[in-house]
Amino acid sequence: PQIIFSGIQPTGTLHLGNYFGAVDKWKQLIHSSNGDVILSIVDLHAITLPQDPKSLHSSILHMTASLVACGIDPEKCILFQQSKVPQHALLGWVLGTLTTMTRLYHFPQYKEKSATLKDIPLGLFTYPVLQAADILLYKSTQVPIGGDQVQHLHLAQHLVHTFNNKYGVTFPIPEYIVEVESGAARIRSLREPEKKMSKSHADPKSRIEITDTPEQILSKIKKAVTDFTSSVQYDAENRPGVSNLIDMHALAVGRTRNEIVDEAVGLDTGKYKLRVADAVIEKLSPIRSEFTRLLDSKDYLVNVLADGSAKAETIASRTWNEVKMRIGLESAQ
Ligand code: TYM
Repeated sequence: PQIIFSGIQPTGTLHLGNYFGAVDKWKQLIHSSNGDVILSIVDLHAITLPQDPKSLHSSILHMTASLVACGIDPEKCILFQQSKVPQHALLGWVLGTLTTMTRLYHFPQYKEKSATLKDIPLGLFTYPVLQAADILLYKSTQVPIGGDQVQHLHLAQHLVHTFNNKYGVTFPIPEYIVEVESGAARIRSLREPEKKMSKSHADPKSRIEITDTPEQILSKIKKAVTDFTSSVQYDAENRPGVSNLIDMHALAVGRTRNEIVDEAVGLDTGKYKLRVADAVIEKLSPIRSEFTRLLDSKDYLVNVLADGSAKAETIASRTWNEVKMRIGLESAQ
């Protein structure tokens, strides 16, 4: 059977890039897959950059509420908190012995995140190794992600080869699932459309969060950077701003890019933005009200994570025991 695994950091609020690039796909896979879908709120990854201890735990619950509000049904998948399953860190350590610093230096995310730091935390450097451990721990076969995570998946695949060659076939090669065609794999910043939409960008106007009010959504989309051509045409390379609006619009209403562009003939980008805002507002309003409702049920959220983490640990401890035997930390009976 398939085993589908993915993760999201509990830093900041879920935005449309996360939604279209990952969460939407997770929902589809929960419906269509013949095996487990395992989704992790990766708090151990989050602390590779400074987090405020006073708010980290509530951010974890916020992310849980966001995912459930987006339609991730915790009854139909395993939704859990990474740090509740200690085998992630243990397997991460083992995998760290199987790769090299040279390989890790080349990761674009590491380069980007460390560029502005004077002292670079070791955890930020080894981040992709922990991510590989997340995936291998469940013997995952498919990993649905946005385009920015592909390199990390290559490392996970490489580590599977290395481990299997050295210790005997233990893990399947995890494939990644990236929605390139629709543009969902890379939703762009509303302020700098050459960059991706990101939770950590300083300017909140660069992203649309699922908790934004209709007024906020309208104002952010009105201010979205486009270009000096007024017609609504898709050209991701030369007109990334307007093309990003077309993609978000198409994804929000579940139609094709071409249909969207055909219907926008004669509109200038200013008027077109109002139409995009309407579509996004309509898509997000039920999610936002469900999110608000869930935030009031803290006990429910805590329970969701406790249940999910217990299920995850059952699988994780089985794999970890096998790993210990494979590498000779325990005797193989
Ligand atoms: P994170 O928390 O940055 O993002 C969660 C998911 O959202 C996708 N994403 C986007 N997709 C399209 N357009 C965007 N602008 C955009 N921004 C984010 C990401 O690609 C991701 O799929 N390292 C991971 C978390 C992780 C993980 C894992 C993922 C840890 N372990 C194991 C898969 C498997 C991350 O930081 O995602």
